[in-house]
Amino acid sequence: PRPILLTRHGESKDNVRGRIGGDTALSDAGEIYAKKLSNFIEKRLKSERAASIWTSTLQRTILTASPIVGFPKIQWRALDEINSGVCDGMTYEEIKKNMPEEYEARKKDKLRYRYPRGESYLDVIQRLEPVIIELERQRAPVVVISHQAVLRALYAYFADRPLKEIPHIEMPLHTIIEIQMGVTGVQEKRYKLMD
Ligand code: F6P
Repeated sequence: PRPILLTRHGESKDNVRGRIGGDTALSDAGEIYAKKLSNFIEKRLKSERAASIWTSTLQRTILTASPIVGFPKIQWRALDEINSGVCDGMTYEEIKKNMPEEYEARKKDKLRYRYPRGESYLDVIQRLEPVIIELERQRAPVVVISHQAVLRALYAYFADRPLKEIPHIEMPLHTIIEIQMGVTGVQEKRYKLMD
């Protein structure tokens, strides 16, 4: 059975500042995670010659993948983080203060709420369809290095979690979720590589 390994990028500079969206590089902790992840992957997938590493087109996932050698890397736009439109680069506090109606609307219906000039979770779920089709087709292991909202949606698909839960699924940094699809269903393991 071929595993799918899901992980968020290492902590980014924007994560440290609490800013959403953006395209910043990794923090020092994020750089350490990238190295730990590469050690883990090289051990875990040692004899898996056909394995591949999928990232988004954003720096923080590409940089997280960069220490990993020996496997092909593929960038998918569909794996980019939810587009927060006019709120891109803001903190949740700033949104609450400057755009209270937007803040409240999202709180009320996080699944359907669409950022002005951006996306909703439902939009993200829809754009992930080709990625899911390709993941299901793979015979070899795949490591997916992506973002919080996108990974919630991907994880929910494989773990068979209901739509309405998706925006609220816990998706911590610096943790690998390994999914194995077998005849008896889906098995899951988690590896927390750092605090
Ligand atoms: O804060 C990190 C981040 O990936 C943001 O870029 C993104 O907007 C957010 O998480 C998605 O999480 P939530 O839907 O809970 O705001």
